Amino acid sequence: MENMMREELEKAKKNRNFRTLKTYSRDMINFSSNDYLNLSDDLELKKIFFNFYNNLSFSSGSSRLITGSYSLIMQLEERVNSIYKKEALQFNSGFDANSCLIETLFNKNSLIISDKLNHSSIYSGIVASGAKLLRYKHLNVNHLESLLLKYSNDFKNILVITETIFSMDGDCCNLKEIIELKNKYSFKLMVDEAHTYGVYGYGLAYSLKLLPSIDYLSIPLGKGGASIGAYLLTDSITKEYIINKGKKFIYTTALPPINTAWNIFILENMESFYEKIVSFKSLIDFTINYMSELKIKTESNSHIISILFKDNLKVDRVVSNLIKKNYIVHGIKEPTVPIGTSRIRVSLNLGLTKENIRCFLEDLNNEINNIF
Ligand SMILES: Cc1ncc(COP(=O)(O)O)c(C=O)c1O
Repeated sequence: MENMMREELEKAKKNRNFRTLKTYSRDMINFSSNDYLNLSDDLELKKIFFNFYNNLSFSSGSSRLITGSYSLIMQLEERVNSIYKKEALQFNSGFDANSCLIETLFNKNSLIISDKLNHSSIYSGIVASGAKLLRYKHLNVNHLESLLLKYSNDFKNILVITETIFSMDGDCCNLKEIIELKNKYSFKLMVDEAHTYGVYGYGLAYSLKLLPSIDYLSIPLGKGGASIGAYLLTDSITKEYIINKGKKFIYTTALPPINTAWNIFILENMESFYEKIVSFKSLIDFTINYMSELKIKTESNSHIISILFKDNLKVDRVVSNLIKKNYIVHGIKEPTVPIGTSRIRVSLNLGLTKENIRCFLEDLNNEINNIF
């Protein structure tokens, strides 16, 4: 066992793909935070929150089916239900929500067709379900349709899965076109809104009024939700089934009241974040425009911006030089992204000013020019 681990770790080091845990000083300029609206650091918000919720536990003390369904968590799920018009369950993480839903509902007789670049939590659920897996080319609805055409007669249960804005490429699926396919083929649709909750208010599907066509909506809260946990939205029978059969829902301690209260607070205040959302859009536009002025290439046009280097050594050099200049910035390599597409992934967030971004892009541009 130890030999195997040592060999694997040596291999990772050789491929410049060895992971270590790091702590960054809080005075560094953070280009890696997924707390997109910077809500978790908002002193005003925190003050209002703690004035209102001043005596909450830091543990739920039990799983949901024992005493973990305390009144705040039930209140939260009812509130989510009234906004989205779907039954809601709060999970402890987006990873759990995604994998639990898939592995609980689908099995070896099912077919799952997944965007090639969907998140690891989705693939983890698919593997555990034992379903037949087909991956369609990233964002390619024509390819998805060709797979549906070829296989839809062979399977009774088909699930199609996509993220809205993708976590590594910052590009967006065409949800309307995917939904149109439901008129021609019979399948269930699962959508992951990890990177759109907050940035698009209640999410992209909500703003586009597409919720009725989505069978399973997953909203991880650790990004624009400035928190932890996830909402899983579905119909009442599926909710009951997960409460009865979903191992990652049943056999785990429920989120503490303090976190659930913060989730309610963010949800209730979402409409008041409108100005923040508008400022964030302007920060995104500023960044994309300045990148194009500097001729820094990217395919992204959202708050997640990937700059491809394709070479782990180059990524490491640029990242390390940028860290020396006081920026928190990360390289992303295989297996998180496909081999040969290693990159620097920038997360824009409202903790950044235009001046921070301008300086960062100029420094990044110098690094790129030095390395190529
Ligand atoms: C698209 C997507 N789905 C799910 C997750 C998992 O969410 P969580 O961090 O809450 O487990 C992430 C986060 O890494 C993600 O990017």
